[in-house]
This record gives sequence, C-alpha cells and structure tokens, in this order.
Amino acid sequence: LNHTVEHFAQEERWMLATGFSADNCHAEHHATILETMRVVEAHYLDSDTTIITRMAEALAEWFPGHANSMDAGLAAHLKSVGFDSVTETLADPSAIQNVTMSGCGSVSCSS
Ligand SMILES: [Fe+2]
Ligand SMILES: [Fe+2]
Repeated sequence: LNHTVEHFAQEERWMLATGFSADNCHAEHHATILETMRVVEAHYLDSDTTIITRMAEALAEWFPGHANSMDAGLAAHLKSVGFDSVTETLADPSAIQNVTMSGCGSVSCSS
C-alpha cells in the first residue's frame, strides 16, 4: 500500500507538471484503486486474512491493463513534451502552455 501510494503520487506529480488537470481520469483510477486497497487492509486487520490473497489476485489482473494503457500513454506524453523524470522538469515549459488535459494522454478513458 505504501509503495502504491508513492508510485501513484509520482505519476500524478508528473501529470500535473506536464499539463494534466488534477482531476484527470488516470488519477481518478489511482484514487479508486487506493480506496479499495485501504478498505481491504481494514478488513484484513479485522481478521479476514484471506482477503489479501484475493486482492493480490485482483491487482495482478488489473495491473497489466493499467500499465499498458494509462501508464504507457503517460510515458508517451512525457516523452513527447520533453519531460525529465529525474529532475521532474521540462526542457521547454512552453511545450505544454495552454494545454490542460483531463483525459489519459494518448489513450481514451473508457474503463
Ligand atoms: Fe504506474
Ligand atoms: Fe498509473
């Protein structure tokens, strides 16, 4: 859970730095997953130990689709605007001027 919180936050920082609106659909998907993970964690701590296995299975099923669509779209977008993910800066900030995206980069938001 901690890893996922950090991972999603990093992607969302990159989105904000490159023209995405804060409430874009990729970030909404992240929020939904985190919400589910927190609920599952609470059930787990409340003694339903098998729920963790079921969540792991569900996440394993969910992850490839997310990585191949939204994360891949974000990566393509970051590359196209010249974003440096190490320094988290744009070589040319004017590359994203007047661009506000609520979608998911190069992929549509259908699920
Ligand atoms: Fe990701
Ligand atoms: Fe993502």
